[in-house]
Amino acid sequence: MIITHAAYLAAKILVVDDRKENLFAMRKILQVLECEIFTVESGNEALSYTLRHDFSLILLDVNMPEMDGFELAELLRSNEETEHIPIIFVTASDKEDQSVFKGYESGAVDYLFKPVNADILLSKVKVFLELHMRTKELEAIQVELERSNESLREFAQVVSHDLKNPLNVITGLSELLIAKHSSEWTEKNKKYMGQIAATAERMNHLITDLLSYAQLNAQPASFTAVDLNEVLAQVIADLSGRLGQNGGQIIVKDILPVMEADGTQMYQLFLNIIGNGIKYQRAGCPPNVQVSLFTETNSFTIQIEDNGIGMRSEDIPDIFKTFKRLDNAKGFEGSGVGLATVKKIVELHQGEIDVQSELGQGTVFQIKLPL
Ligand SMILES: Nc1ncnc2c1ncn2[C@@H]1O[C@H](COP(=O)(O)OP(=O)(O)OP(=O)(O)O)[C@@H](O)[C@H]1O
Ligand SMILES: [Mg+2]
Repeated sequence: MIITHAAYLAAKILVVDDRKENLFAMRKILQVLECEIFTVESGNEALSYTLRHDFSLILLDVNMPEMDGFELAELLRSNEETEHIPIIFVTASDKEDQSVFKGYESGAVDYLFKPVNADILLSKVKVFLELHMRTKELEAIQVELERSNESLREFAQVVSHDLKNPLNVITGLSELLIAKHSSEWTEKNKKYMGQIAATAERMNHLITDLLSYAQLNAQPASFTAVDLNEVLAQVIADLSGRLGQNGGQIIVKDILPVMEADGTQMYQLFLNIIGNGIKYQRAGCPPNVQVSLFTETNSFTIQIEDNGIGMRSEDIPDIFKTFKRLDNAKGFEGSGVGLATVKKIVELHQGEIDVQSELGQGTVFQIKLPL
């Protein structure tokens, strides 16, 4: 990307040299960049300037009486406000000096030899100014990201209160009406009221799923040592009600590892995939979900295989999209958010997810995670 000089307008450069003629020469060379140039004749003066201005770069003469360039650089580096300002040391053409700069390698530092060559000076200064601009841009993006995360959190809060409260009123009143008056109703009216209650319940689920997806994006994951066997046991216990209804079973074939992970997110991951495995069952075929483990050198893969309705392989990329439900999901309850959540969780754990499926046969999910 070509950056025009006008882009440097907001940049401020401080030139420190005890000799007026050097300051004059530097200013003359640098003025083509059209940035604000400040010149001072001593280290003390430079210090007071750095407290009042946000400099993109300091050009610093090494040999000065009272405080030399290195002493000033030390002072700047020891102050939180000024430690990040890049410095170009300007020194006499003495090979010995080069070793001294090694100590400054950690910060953004370069050096120039006197007499200063205008082209070299300009190209070095431009590199630092561009670096400074990029850093400022990144900082602005970071601030914007934090702001949008914050509004997402607020949105989630608003959704939970402002949408769920009226919905709870609908659910509550429909239940009350059904309990107290359904005996007086025609079959048709009973059916309508049942549909109102069921729809409100579905919407309640949708909001809960959407909330947990939004929170994944807004809240930083909290990583601890998580025993995946315990997480899986919890998921199986929580699904046992559904298993009892349809005679299904979950078979854990291997012992899973303990990994650095967010325990709540791992629970959501297993619950969604195994929950799907039980939910999308073939008519007359009790669900059977098998969990197995494959270990590699630096990673492991958890495989979750079901014997359900399966899906067409060309539809597989779509299942991770938010709210996407395939044609095969007709007649099954759901919001289409489960696997979007799973994918996000896998990414947050530096993992990969792979799916193989055949319509009418079953589906295999493979989650590869780093050890
Ligand atoms: N094990 C599976 N067998 C067959 N189809 C599946 C399976 N898992 C997912 N699908 C398909 O992928 C779609 C997306 O799955 P996802 O879990 O995101 O949503 P859902 O189950 O419809 O709703 P929920 O948000 O309640 O989980 C499903 O609607 C279904 O079409
Ligand atoms: Mg699901």
